[in-house]
Amino acid sequence: MNKRTIRDLAPAEIKGRRALVRVDFNVPLDGTRITDDTRIRAAIPTLRALVSGGARVVLLSHLGRPKAKPEAKYSLAPVAARLAELLGKPVAFCPETDTDAALAATKALADGDVLLLENTRFLPGEEKNDPALSKSFARLGDFYVNDAFGTAHRAHASTAGVAAFLHPAVAGLLMDAELNWLGAALEKPKRPFIAILGGSKISGKIDVIEAMIPKVDGILIGGAMACTFFKAMGLETGTSLVESDRVDMAASLIERAAFRLTLPHDATVAPGIEAGARAHAVKRDAIPATEAMLDIGPDTAQSYTRAILAAKTIVWNGPMGVFETPPFNMGTNAVGNAMAEATAMGATTIVGGGDSAAAVEQMGLAAKMSHVSTGGGASLEFLEGKELPGVAALDERAGT
Ligand code: 3PG
Repeated sequence: MNKRTIRDLAPAEIKGRRALVRVDFNVPLDGTRITDDTRIRAAIPTLRALVSGGARVVLLSHLGRPKAKPEAKYSLAPVAARLAELLGKPVAFCPETDTDAALAATKALADGDVLLLENTRFLPGEEKNDPALSKSFARLGDFYVNDAFGTAHRAHASTAGVAAFLHPAVAGLLMDAELNWLGAALEKPKRPFIAILGGSKISGKIDVIEAMIPKVDGILIGGAMACTFFKAMGLETGTSLVESDRVDMAASLIERAAFRLTLPHDATVAPGIEAGARAHAVKRDAIPATEAMLDIGPDTAQSYTRAILAAKTIVWNGPMGVFETPPFNMGTNAVGNAMAEATAMGATTIVGGGDSAAAVEQMGLAAKMSHVSTGGGASLEFLEGKELPGVAALDERAGT
């Protein structure tokens, strides 16, 4: 990566100085209970490195999508408690973000202390990337670290704007690892290199398919978005989710990708998600008019497994079916298991964030992948070849 990281900082640039660290602690909550702390755990290496270097750590994050004003259900207070458990040391929580009280709290820190400020999205200037707010954030630290890969595709005050006012502005270890894994897969993949793309909507995946066609040896499609392609092929799609305004686009992708694009040959269909007992497999040209495709079929799961085991680099984004509801998890499980096996055989396996990361976590396979990204939207935008504003804003490494 051509951006400076915390590893490039001299000890004197860290010790006794306030590190303003943007993390992505946008974790799922059930009330105040954190149901998945993966993103908090992912930030620990950076935080440990800063703490052991004697930095005074000030953390900024968003949580959820509040409407630019405080909303109790989006408070980061529960995250401070979990972070303290994971770090094994106290984490102070300030219920304000960029006020004088917050500034005073940062100034009261001792070397190695950690302070989490309240949700950045409670402030109207955050999502507008307001320079006045960026400048105000910059007062809260003596240098800036962005470790929020999951939010790096957002040009917000705490993810991008602040870096114009606070230097050094460097990447954290998670940000660095994410960019290196994804970057290496795109730039120098071991071949064969395949991408597996699923999920319900083709609209969110068109750009990534376009960008990856020239780079990969194959793209395997799953999830309900396969049905928009089926429609483009003139097949019956029953009551499956089809984006009718994307059918022409799907037809054009099929034509341009030619042999590189593989669609499911069969589908697991049922009258509805609640009708799992009536699920059955059909060839893709035999989807009943009254049923919906809710997973790839068993033949497709087998052939995708073979393709994964024959590949040396595999990037996966998006589930193959409604994986939260058995039996429609069969295809997603097959891909997850094949990826784990491929990793053991020496392949590089990368799981994009969001639903596919949640599926891999649910299967207990996360540790068996080369890398599971903490960023759903961010990893997709990276694979699309887009510049991530949160990365672009950081200091260049000398000589690059
Ligand atoms: C995510 O969960 O993808 C990131 O935290 C970004 O959140 P956002 O989509 O609300 O900007």
